[in-house]
Formats: sequence, structure tokens, C-alpha cells
Amino acid sequence: MSSPCPDLDLKPEMPRRLDHGIGIVGAGGVVNFAHLPAYSKAGFKVVGVTDMDRVRAEQTAATHKVPKVYTTLEELLRDPEVEVVDIAVYPWEVPAIAEKVIAAGRPFLCQKPLSIDYGTAARLVQMAKEAKVKMAVNQQMRWDAGIRGTQELIRKGWLGLATYATIQVHCLTNWAVWHSMYAGKHLEVLYHSIHYVDSLRFLFGGPDRVFSSGSRMPDEATEAETRTLSVWEYDSGLRVLIDVNHGVWQDDRYAIFRFEGTEGVIKGTIGLMYNYPTGRPDTLEFMSKKNPGYWHSARHDYLWIPDAFVGPMASLQRAIEDDSEPLTSGEDNLKTLQIVFAQYRSMDEGRVVSPKEVTG
Ligand SMILES: NC(=O)c1ccc[n+]([C@@H]2O[C@H](COP(=O)([O-])OP(=O)(O)OC[C@H]3O[C@@H](n4cnc5c(N)ncnc54)[C@H](O)[C@@H]3O)[C@@H](O)[C@H]2O)c1
Repeated sequence: MSSPCPDLDLKPEMPRRLDHGIGIVGAGGVVNFAHLPAYSKAGFKVVGVTDMDRVRAEQTAATHKVPKVYTTLEELLRDPEVEVVDIAVYPWEVPAIAEKVIAAGRPFLCQKPLSIDYGTAARLVQMAKEAKVKMAVNQQMRWDAGIRGTQELIRKGWLGLATYATIQVHCLTNWAVWHSMYAGKHLEVLYHSIHYVDSLRFLFGGPDRVFSSGSRMPDEATEAETRTLSVWEYDSGLRVLIDVNHGVWQDDRYAIFRFEGTEGVIKGTIGLMYNYPTGRPDTLEFMSKKNPGYWHSARHDYLWIPDAFVGPMASLQRAIEDDSEPLTSGEDNLKTLQIVFAQYRSMDEGRVVSPKEVTG
């Protein structure tokens, strides 16, 4: 049996003003297929864009009707109309850009992962803190309907004490789109499962210990991991399983989540992972222990791309207005990165690792 659930608020908290000028650094894939469509839908004001490849910047500006193209980052930072900087380049390019943005005193949103090593991320967060510059990281899965709806249900007491949580994604990823990442040492967790790590930490807090095993298909050219199995242990008794495989040639691929607690069960599918990057709306179902066998389902038409991409920018702008911290602040993101790098340490050393072992 199922019934619609009318009162789940899946929308992000929006800024009071929509005219905070946004300057974008990087005019690549994610900016074109996600950031700019999301900002247009939300009514945000994008002032201009810069890219080391001027042609890409010009094409992006023309496609999305962005008024200005800057030749350099310095030119972007000199524009008084730019109130917020949106950095969407690969993580190894971030420090040089972020340092200039911090020196210019501009709040910024940075694509995930913030860095390819914990020490650099911690240094940037410290620099921003000392300069009193607000920074946020684009962990937008927190605003995807399945996760956002789950958080609402947890807040309303549907789950009770969490006992088991899992995200399982068995998909086929075309790594050619991300060839520079494919050539690196770390791949699946650092660039993909970091979303699941951040969302699970957002919902349930950080684990006390993690164990991870990474591998790849026999015919893959990369030295990095493309499939991972990770178990998180909490002293409370909660157990988490993250099971991701990017090399599924079979046609019965799936992307599911399931969260069990003392009072209820929440389960669903991650729509984006069925046909990336188009996606389809997540499903979200939940059952209360008080009414076993009666499944509620949340109905909505939100897509991860573009809808969830409104959340991190809205949160940063709201933090500017209220002089508060964005939900995915740099400081908060360090806790997600601690788990990411604890998982890598676990893979390297074949042992259970505490995220606290990962320090700057
Ligand atoms: N769901 C998500 O949040 C999501 C999805 C895709 C990509 N990403 C992240 O976004 C980042 C960019 O990914 P992409 O797929 O758009 O890459 P991309 O290669 O398509 O685009 C990157 C762009 O940045 C430009 N660039 C690089 N260094 C620069 C610099 N120093 N100054 C100015 N421009 C510079 C490049 O010329 C290029 O146009 C990556 O870190 C990736 O992990 C996140």
C-alpha cells in the first residue's frame, strides 16, 4: 500500500536578495550543464565568467547569456559587481585561485573535492577563516530530493535511532569525460563517492571507524579505484555500507539508498545515476513502525541536475546576508575530507582507520 506524503519541504532555503553578483571561474562541463541552468532557474544574478581557455568562456557566456567575459581572474576580482566567486575547476587548480579570492575578500563556493590532499584543504580553510572570508564547498547532493527528504523525515522523528544505512550504486561511468582524473592515484571516492560520504555524514554524523576496499575491473587502464566497498562503524551501533561499482556492463544497473531506524525505514533511488547527466527524479518511500506494511511515497519532480545545484549557492548567499556559516562551509567540508582520506588510508594499509587519524 502507498499514499502521497504532502508535507515534505524539498526546496532549499533561498537568500532574501537574488541580486548578489556571481563571478564564475571555469567554464567547463559542470558549469554548463549544472551551475548555469540551476542559477537561471533560481533567478540568481550571474555577472561574468573567466576561463584559462578564452573561447570556452565566450561560448559559455553566449549560450547562457552571461553579460561579461573576463580575460583573467584578476579582472574578475576587480569588478565591483562580483560579490560571490564560484570556482569550478579541477582541485589541483583551486589553491592558486582561492588564495587570490581570499586576498580580495570575496566569499566563494568551490567545486568538490576541495583538494586532492587534506593538508591543502585545511590550509585554505584556515586562510579563509583568518581573512573572515566565507567559503563553501559544492556538496550539492545534500539538496538532492532523496537526501533532503530523508533529512526532513529524520527531523520529524520518523527514523528514531538510526541502526543501518546504505547507499549502493552500480552504474557504468564513461571516464573519458574525466580523463585527467582517471590518470590520477585516487578516483572513485575522491570524485564520486565523496557525495555519498558527505550526505551520510550530513544525515547521521561522522563514523568512529571506517574500513574500505578499492579495486577495478581487470581491463581498466587506470591505477586508481573504480569500485569500492566501505563500512563505517559508529559507537552508537549504527553501521553504514557504501557499495559503488562504476564498471557494470550488465543492463540491470541500480542506485539505491536505505536507512533503517528504531522507529521506521526510509528507502529510495538516486535518479541521476540511472542515466547521468540527464537523470530522473529520485524516489523516496518511508514506513513507520507504528503502521507496518503501509509505505508513504514523496511525489516531486526535482532533478539532481539542475535543482540540487541551487542549494550550495543559496546557502552561501544566505550566510552572507545573515553573517552565518553556509551549510557546506569549508570547515564542515574538512570533516567529509577526513572520512574520504581515512577510507584511502584503510585501502592502502588494509586496516580499520579512525577519521581522527587524518590531520593537517
Ligand atoms: N556533481 C558535481 O558536483 C560535479 C560534477 C562534475 C564535475 N564536478 C567538479 O567540477 C570540477 C570541474 O569539472 P568539469 O567537469 O567542469 O571539468 P572541465 O574540464 O569540463 O572544465 C574545467 C574548466 O576549468 C578551466 N580551468 C582549469 N584551470 C583553470 C584556471 N586556473 N583558471 C581558469 N580556468 C581554468 C578549464 O579550461 C576548463 O574549461 C572538478 O573538480 C569536478 O570534480 C563536480
